[in-house]
Amino acid sequence: MDKAVNDAVNKQIQAEMDSAYLYLAMAAYAEAKDLNGVASWMKIQAQEEMEHAMKFYGYVYQTGGEVELLALPKPKKDFGSILDIFEAALDHEKLITSKINSLYELSMKKKDYAFQSFLKWYIDEQVEEESTAADIIAQIKMIGDSKEGIFMLDKELGSRSAEEESAE
Ligand code: FEO
Repeated sequence: MDKAVNDAVNKQIQAEMDSAYLYLAMAAYAEAKDLNGVASWMKIQAQEEMEHAMKFYGYVYQTGGEVELLALPKPKKDFGSILDIFEAALDHEKLITSKINSLYELSMKKKDYAFQSFLKWYIDEQVEEESTAADIIAQIKMIGDSKEGIFMLDKELGSRSAEEESAE
């Protein structure tokens, strides 16, 4: 495995674990606010991010590289309103998309076709991640300040199941 590619993938493992940590912090915040559906959704999201990290981890060893784990920053504790939480999630996913795009650019520069092919799954996944967060934001905006609406949305978000995700 090319050294620059190996280093970039190790940084992406850190970014995916950092995403998991962020979503887990959001889950804990929602839990404290009795938004149990949001908390459950965020915990599943955190698990997904760990799976994203593990896919990169596996790829490193499949291609003769070496995993070096990097430190994670402490996530913040206060995320504001339910709208603020999902807006922060969307901003974060946009950041991750830009990181995946940079990896793709690196794969082209290095003419590393196997890496290019491997990254395609992440490119598609990022489209889905951004669209899901944007859809939830649109729903929250429709609901406005309605307590009943937030209650219903929280319930709906709580119906997301880990099994459904892995079946996709
Ligand atoms: Fe692994 Fe949500 O990007």
